[in-house]
Amino acid sequence: MITLKQNSSTQPKLPIESPEPQWLQTVRIILQPLENLDRYQQLYGDIYLSRFAAFPLQVIISNPKGIQELFTADSKLLETGSGSQIMQPLLGDNSLILMDGDRHLQQRKLLMPPFHGDRIKAYSNLIREITEQVTNKWKVGESFVARPQMQDISLKVILRTVFGLQEGERYAQIQQILIEMLNTFNEPLSVVFLLFKSLQRDLVPWSPWGKFLRRRQQLDKLIYAEIRERRHQTQGEDILSLLLSARDEHGQPMSDVELRDELMTMLFAGHETTAIALAWALYWVHYHPEVGEKLLQELNSIDVSSADPTTITQLPYLNAVCSETLRIYPVVLFALPRILQAPMQLMGYDLPKGMTVSVSIYSTHHNPDIYPEPKCFRPERFLERQFSQYEFLPFGGGNRRCLGMAFALFEMKLVLATILSHYSLELLDKVPLKSVRRGIVFTPSGGVNLKVKDKF
Ligand code: HEM
Repeated sequence: MITLKQNSSTQPKLPIESPEPQWLQTVRIILQPLENLDRYQQLYGDIYLSRFAAFPLQVIISNPKGIQELFTADSKLLETGSGSQIMQPLLGDNSLILMDGDRHLQQRKLLMPPFHGDRIKAYSNLIREITEQVTNKWKVGESFVARPQMQDISLKVILRTVFGLQEGERYAQIQQILIEMLNTFNEPLSVVFLLFKSLQRDLVPWSPWGKFLRRRQQLDKLIYAEIRERRHQTQGEDILSLLLSARDEHGQPMSDVELRDELMTMLFAGHETTAIALAWALYWVHYHPEVGEKLLQELNSIDVSSADPTTITQLPYLNAVCSETLRIYPVVLFALPRILQAPMQLMGYDLPKGMTVSVSIYSTHHNPDIYPEPKCFRPERFLERQFSQYEFLPFGGGNRRCLGMAFALFEMKLVLATILSHYSLELLDKVPLKSVRRGIVFTPSGGVNLKVKDKF
């Protein structure tokens, strides 16, 4: 059994273990995750012990200094793959997220370049085109739900950039099945199927898990068909082409299963997250009209349709709005869990080997010492002060920091700028919206209902 002991030389505050029984903590975190993270932070501070679902005892941390210690520790001391098995049914065993050690490092090196620097600038026309293609269907006077519309944009973007897929039958089928599969997790409670392996049973075809498995099978068939075809084609600029041409140290190419798992990883990690962030941004700029007006003023100072993408992505207020959106309701509440491979000192505590450490992105972003009035949406805070990467971490950090961070921010800013400079929208949900669970991500309740007032 794992126990914690205090380091007597520095006299730190001991991490407290919540006295609530495991089942109660689990029910509370599943049903009211944000409220309970706030409550635990108030009760126990920024480092405490928690027992959740079927997971072993874990340290929950939201202290920037502690997070820095963790994220800058030797990555060999931290294992993530075995702690992220919740995603295995979606992503398979060969996903970057489930890898560790040298294999993880090699694969990251391979996948990183297309998501960075000048390479992402090359996607700007595609992102603007897809945004216009989707939003051209919006009609003045009609309403729409932002999340699925933003998902339509971000999924099309990822299918084109990662798979190199042009529109056609397979593209449409992948898009439809993927959306159906993700909709399995529309109900916050459906996460129990991912959390508890014992519930992952295909008892009847219409059971939630049965439906999930059948959709996964259909999706796999389409992805494998695409991989087989592409092995015999000339290589393009997309990420599948890059993976197809990669060779390991023995000169061997990636197998079909390895390719499928990485493609699924980028499909899942890379589109719904960005779509949710965009839906929230649309909510906030209309919920606080003064923010929307200030942003529009900034956007009107350039010609969004023809401006160099860097001019758009470097706009200070646009950046502040996107940052504050990702701060107040991070799409992912926790960084991937880190399991200690050796004893470790963290904030003066001696943590034993085998202990899982989970960084609470949400709690860090809601610490009033870092962000005064943390429940208020105030983009100006990002203009007044620079936050460190251990204070503002919507994309996690250390050696597992989100692979698509630069890409996601680039896409978020371009899509938002394109929409706001072409449409005048009205928020129909003029109420505080809650952030609710959708599988392993968190999304605005109801998806954000908007109405098109005018088209420019
Ligand atoms: C707003 C959008 C996004 C958010 C909020 C987000 C958030 C995150 C977070 C919190 C992590 C865990 C990092 C950690 O544990 O330290 C992560 C990992 C990851 N993300 Fe994202 N992400 C987004 C978009 C994307 C995109 C566009 C892609 C690209 C295809 C992507 C691919 C990945 C991958 C592959 C990992 C695993 C990295 C590893 O294990 O080394 N994400 N993301």
